[in-house]
Amino acid sequence: MYNWDDPINDALSKPDIVPEKKVAPKISTDSSQASADVESFPASKDNGVGSTGMEDIEQGAARIQVDDKAIINCRADLNQLVPFKYEWAWQKYLDGSANHWMPEEIPMHDDIKCWNDPNALRPEEREMVERNLGFFSTADSLVANNLVLAVYKHITNPECRQYLLRQAFEEAIHTHAYQYCVQSLGLDEARIFNMYRELPAVATKAEWALPFTQSLGDPAFKTGTHDDDQRLLRDLIAFYVVFEGIFFYVGFTQILSLGRRNLLTGVSQQFQYILRDESMHMNFGMDVINQIKNENPNLWTESFQQDMIDLIKTGVDLEIQYGRDTMPKPMLGMDANQFEEYIKFIANRRFQRIGLPHQYPGATNPFEWMSEMMDLNKEKNFFETRVTEYKTGGQLKF
Ligand SMILES: [Fe+2]
Ligand SMILES: [Fe+2]
Repeated sequence: MYNWDDPINDALSKPDIVPEKKVAPKISTDSSQASADVESFPASKDNGVGSTGMEDIEQGAARIQVDDKAIINCRADLNQLVPFKYEWAWQKYLDGSANHWMPEEIPMHDDIKCWNDPNALRPEEREMVERNLGFFSTADSLVANNLVLAVYKHITNPECRQYLLRQAFEEAIHTHAYQYCVQSLGLDEARIFNMYRELPAVATKAEWALPFTQSLGDPAFKTGTHDDDQRLLRDLIAFYVVFEGIFFYVGFTQILSLGRRNLLTGVSQQFQYILRDESMHMNFGMDVINQIKNENPNLWTESFQQDMIDLIKTGVDLEIQYGRDTMPKPMLGMDANQFEEYIKFIANRRFQRIGLPHQYPGATNPFEWMSEMMDLNKEKNFFETRVTEYKTGGQLKF
């Protein structure tokens, strides 16, 4: 054990810091061979290789080749970003960085006036705003904790990790944005942030998600066997497809519909920036899921596919219920039945994106304006124009 007070020459003279020369294990691109290699080189400090990127440095090891890289169970050096294998992950990192924003950039003066005007919003609209802030303010922390404490360790690829680090910061910005909204409107902070432990409508979704992060966060958990790799894949589907891909969409739609009616435009704009980030998080997650499937086709068995269909459908049911709980009667020209249709419509898109069949045939989109906000081409336009807007403090228009 060294400490910062050790004179450096003394430290260098200690024989135990001379690294033992090790031979890097050969990584095969063939998936069956790769899993055999994994079994013979379990992640362990003793190997000099492993999933954290913090294992021993192998002096004299060969330079990294693209084919050495793998999305999970990789034994190549995780500290070397290039050569890229997954250009899509690097591109998302660049796009996410070009989309950088901070909550304080968005003026909240009109929102404060609107919230304090007793005639501007109906009581049920105020309740809807508070419940959504209650859900999102802790949901984004849950996602961030899941990323940093559970997912990051098991995704063994540097360009994907680069995006995960970007995503983790964006989740911090989102939690900041909710805090900023709560503070601007003068809401009871303790009540809003504790809502997921007080209100069943808000608590249910977080409760559903927790077991999926707890398993990956278990210090004893590691990938490398068929069952454990499936467990990772299942938890990624729970988080990226259900939590970020379905559980956010009733709330996003409700809040953004306020902005379209010129109500709480600052809060709406915060949510619109968050929606654009979330759309990319979800797309990144589904790319990761598909890449794991491609590299490990043995994991994608028929029974596992059925389990994933059931898991996503449970998420759909919970989100439909959230729509009913937060919208017991029609408001802002929308009702809970439309939300049911909308959630089924977006669930079909999620199923298709990860290679599963539609489960809600004929579901249509009652909120076309939402897909416009998430449309990939629009998103690219947004990124292209964002730099100018950022410099001038320009605002999104509804
Ligand atoms: Fe987020
Ligand atoms: Fe996210």
